[in-house]
Amino acid sequence: MAVTRKKLIEVALPLEAINIASAREKSIRHGHPSTLHLWWARRPLAAARAVLFAQMVDDPSSRPELFPTEAAQEVERERLFAIIRELVKWESTTNEVVLEAARAEIRRSWRLTCEDNKDHPQAAELFDPDKLPAFHDPFAGGGSIPLEAQRLGLEAYASDLNPVAVLINKAMIEIPPKFAGRPPVNPKSRSEKTLHCRVWRGAQGLAEDVRYYGQWMRDEAFKRIGHLYPQVEITAEMVAERPDLKAYQGRKLTVIAWLWARTVRSPNPAFADVHVPLASTFMLSTKAGKEAYVEPVIEGNGYRFTVKVGKPRDPEGAKNGTRAGKAQDFMCLISGVPIARSYIRDEGKDGKLGSTLMAIVAEGDRGRVYELVLRSLSGCCVTAP
Ligand SMILES: C[S@@+](CC[C@H](N)C(=O)[O-])C[C@H]1O[C@@H](n2cnc3c(N)ncnc32)[C@H](O)[C@@H]1O
Repeated sequence: MAVTRKKLIEVALPLEAINIASAREKSIRHGHPSTLHLWWARRPLAAARAVLFAQMVDDPSSRPELFPTEAAQEVERERLFAIIRELVKWESTTNEVVLEAARAEIRRSWRLTCEDNKDHPQAAELFDPDKLPAFHDPFAGGGSIPLEAQRLGLEAYASDLNPVAVLINKAMIEIPPKFAGRPPVNPKSRSEKTLHCRVWRGAQGLAEDVRYYGQWMRDEAFKRIGHLYPQVEITAEMVAERPDLKAYQGRKLTVIAWLWARTVRSPNPAFADVHVPLASTFMLSTKAGKEAYVEPVIEGNGYRFTVKVGKPRDPEGAKNGTRAGKAQDFMCLISGVPIARSYIRDEGKDGKLGSTLMAIVAEGDRGRVYELVLRSLSGCCVTAP
């Protein structure tokens, strides 16, 4: 039986500092691999780092030979907390001084653990004071925990049922160490003489290659399929309807999203030739101060969409779109008659559903999401299959 001592995590943690760093991290981790693919229940890197550290380091109460009184234990615990408070900061992910202090503490506890277990029958294999134990996360998901284990100096292994998670973990913890300290190989970096004598630390060289070849792939994709994603030009006609777009008049903007709604033939016999939208909401942005919504305009037997910015005049109507309130039921935009779920299902089975473009979201000057919502170019067009 191995001799075990109480670890810090079993006694106390500086939770407030960990929580603050975890919440802050969400808004500043731009460019981090974790933003490449969103994974559910992904652990904040700060929390992963703190928890790993506190699992590896002994609680001072378990070392009475070193900290004989409660007061001495408290002082030592506070010293460990100070390391954690620094360690959880986003800026510390690349701060070797902070990381090395944490690693040294882990190594110190490990050596004591090995000393405790030097008579263990498998001591040579399991309790080598010069080799930290390996770490394995069998449900690694987005890989926060093995990534942070690696950062803290442990040999990290990750596995997962889902091949996407496996790919993420390969990209994050398996491939980068293979290229650690190596220069980039892309032709641009190779031809730049000023880079020849540069020292490439960690994954810097690999990152340079990822940037170069990522740009190459983007350019190639644009050459081949870019024509399928035309930019949208802000015309004087659009500005007349949306004065807030004045600053963009005459400019071509990159489209981020085309927002479509499914359509179904109106069950009202008077409008049986009109396809009406099944829109679960007309709100495009509910962000305070940046509200935007679609406002349908009914014209004769048809309709078109306009996009408005600001709070809707009819907040409930904008929120509900053409939903009838009851789950899965809608109503005819023109006549208001209910559209039962069973009717939509039957029309769908007969291949009679259509779609209509409600709005286009384009990239504005200050960020992307719903910065700029343009009026739909679809006009009153309703496309049936
Ligand atoms: C909550 S996620 C893990 C999130 C991860 N801790 C992170 O920080 O990103 C749980 C993961 O367990 C994986 N999983 C579920 N059942 C599994 C099984 N039987 N074997 C391996 N992985 C499994 C899922 O694919 C999922 O990626």
